Amino acid sequence: MDLAAARLLLVGCGKMGGALARGWLGAGARADNIVAVEPAREAAAAFADGPRPIFVGSPDKAPPGFGPDVIVFAVKPQAMDIVVPAYARFADSGAVFLSIAAGTPIRFFETHLSPAAPIVRSMPNTPAAVGRGVTAAICNANVPPEGRALCEALLRAVGDVVWVTDEAEIDAVTAVSGSGPAYVFHLVEAMTAAGVAEGLSPEAAGALARATVAGAGELLHRSPEDAATLRRNVTSPGGTTAAALEVLMAQDGLSALMERAIAAAARRSRELGA
Ligand SMILES: NC(=O)c1ccc[n+]([C@@H]2O[C@H](COP(=O)([O-])OP(=O)(O)OC[C@H]3O[C@@H](n4cnc5c(N)ncnc54)[C@H](OP(=O)(O)O)[C@@H]3O)[C@@H](O)[C@H]2O)c1
Repeated sequence: MDLAAARLLLVGCGKMGGALARGWLGAGARADNIVAVEPAREAAAAFADGPRPIFVGSPDKAPPGFGPDVIVFAVKPQAMDIVVPAYARFADSGAVFLSIAAGTPIRFFETHLSPAAPIVRSMPNTPAAVGRGVTAAICNANVPPEGRALCEALLRAVGDVVWVTDEAEIDAVTAVSGSGPAYVFHLVEAMTAAGVAEGLSPEAAGALARATVAGAGELLHRSPEDAATLRRNVTSPGGTTAAALEVLMAQDGLSALMERAIAAAARRSRELGA
């Protein structure tokens, strides 16, 4: 089924749910095929400039006869306990349930919906807001191939999609790509501070660091080369970049630091999901 024909019930249209809905509309979904269950009135205002989903305050206010192909859970993880059971009536309707909630395992949905419910659990990241996210996803055995393909198309509307096969991997996904944008923002902060230490004004250092990280990211995005090749391409032997990389690539350099940081995030993800 292509996006133009898909009927979508979006539960929670905040930051991430709103980004998804905008992505679907941009990828060809029809506004009158998207029902957003969202109590916050300001959520609808974010669509003032273009087509927007049908907003309702609760699932029983959906248009009569609206039968969703996919129900997307995009509320905060701590709200799932009270939100999810209201959708159990769709569990044997053929609809697929797609969750983007951090730390909420597939078994939670099987318990609150039905052991036979088709569930896709996914973990997007914030660049989804500009259509450049990356989402890791995993599904239970109840999801048919066409349901999986439709969920992939919904996630692909806001960026890349990577399927994993073991739910335990989601903690590592969370640590690498879910939390990853913050590491990159911190890199800009660190480069700015170092530029100031070398004599630049905070404004100049900030502008240079920000544009460098954004530009290098874009170059990586557009280039067929991998990151190591791009790095080597800009590193002349004995030059300035080589001098910096000797520090960054030392045994106690960025790789060691990043390994510790990502291990800490994965550990925290396991604790939160336990
Ligand atoms: N933001 C991210 O970077 C990110 C990344 C990966 C995954 N996620 C996941 O995405 C989910 C949403 O996060 P978010 O950052 O988008 O949160 P958010 O901006 O707070 O959006 C959640 C929305 O759901 C609404 N809501 C609350 N109760 C509801 C109900 N009973 N029915 C329908 N909607 C309801 C909230 O309205 P009120 O404000 O009125 O409560 C809010 O507008 C979370 O599970 C999170 O783990 C987020």
